[in-house]
Amino acid sequence: MQIFNPVKAILEKDAVKNHKSLMNFSGKCALIVTGRNSAKKTGALYDVLDVLKEHGKEWIIFDEVTENPGFDLITKGLDFLGSKKADAVIGIGGGSPIDASKAISVLHANRNSSFEDIYKNPNLEAVPVFAVPTTSGTGSEMTQYSVLTNKDNVKSGFTNFNTFPKVSFVDPKYTLDMPWNITLSTAVDAFSHSAEGYMCISADSYIKNIAENSMKAVKENLENIKNKDSLELRTGLSFGSMTAGYVISHTGTVLPHSLGYGLTSEYGIKHGLATFLFIIPVLKRLYDKNIKFDFVNNIFGSLKNMENYFDKLEINDYRVKISDEHIDLFSERVSKSGHVLKTPGNFTKKDIEELYLEVSL
Ligand SMILES: [Fe+2]
Repeated sequence: MQIFNPVKAILEKDAVKNHKSLMNFSGKCALIVTGRNSAKKTGALYDVLDVLKEHGKEWIIFDEVTENPGFDLITKGLDFLGSKKADAVIGIGGGSPIDASKAISVLHANRNSSFEDIYKNPNLEAVPVFAVPTTSGTGSEMTQYSVLTNKDNVKSGFTNFNTFPKVSFVDPKYTLDMPWNITLSTAVDAFSHSAEGYMCISADSYIKNIAENSMKAVKENLENIKNKDSLELRTGLSFGSMTAGYVISHTGTVLPHSLGYGLTSEYGIKHGLATFLFIIPVLKRLYDKNIKFDFVNNIFGSLKNMENYFDKLEINDYRVKISDEHIDLFSERVSKSGHVLKTPGNFTKKDIEELYLEVSL
């Protein structure tokens, strides 16, 4: 058994303001990596700027991160920085800005390195990363991973042990006005992280315990948010996201994440939904092989109840017709991914094709 997760994470309303001393780094200038809107709309950006001002720091804001950041976007961020030196990188937003901040951090610290290098070497130096999530699902606030879309439009993550955020300021108030479709897609992403961590062949009882608590928190709070939003419920979802991130920082993700990547890059389905569409089909196949998981009964009572719970949230409305060519291409790619080896049940390429057919309209 190995446990390693050096992230100082604070889950609390007004986390940035209440823990100003932690938003600090040696050197003068921070690069803030964010998207066009959410950091400003939620107030997260201004909370961070107030604290940097108080510490006498300077900053540069790169606010062009879009969903599913690609290599071009990372290069743009580095070009934007130009010859200036960033002593810290602060990612504010959903998973995309936080993942982008990790990639920029490694490439900024290793100016002669290529994307190929960062995928190969998980120990390259990195500029300290701080994370301020404005959604609740990515888990990136707790992990050493960054998922990017490469030049061939394929999503793939790299690992770097120096990009575990130094501090993650998780303030659930930033998520209060998140629209339902984003709340749902991010929450089921968190649920999938924990479910997949639990399923992973290397998961031990310690990780399974955390994963189960994380899924329970997502389940209990998500269904209630649909009726009445509150800071308390949002805190529950942020807890679900953080703990799920903690889980995958040890196990990584397994088959459903790998299956979902193609639906996001080729069909534009949000990452969490694209992944979750495969969770129950994969579980059913494993149950058919008599590979069962206690969390299903402990949280939902049965696999059927679990399916009904997510049906009520209208997850299946997000399915699309997947073309035969894509089923072929994705199945080939997924069957060769490391995710399959970490998933119990010996899934073959044929099994994977069948999973795509099952999810396709
Ligand atoms: Fe994910």
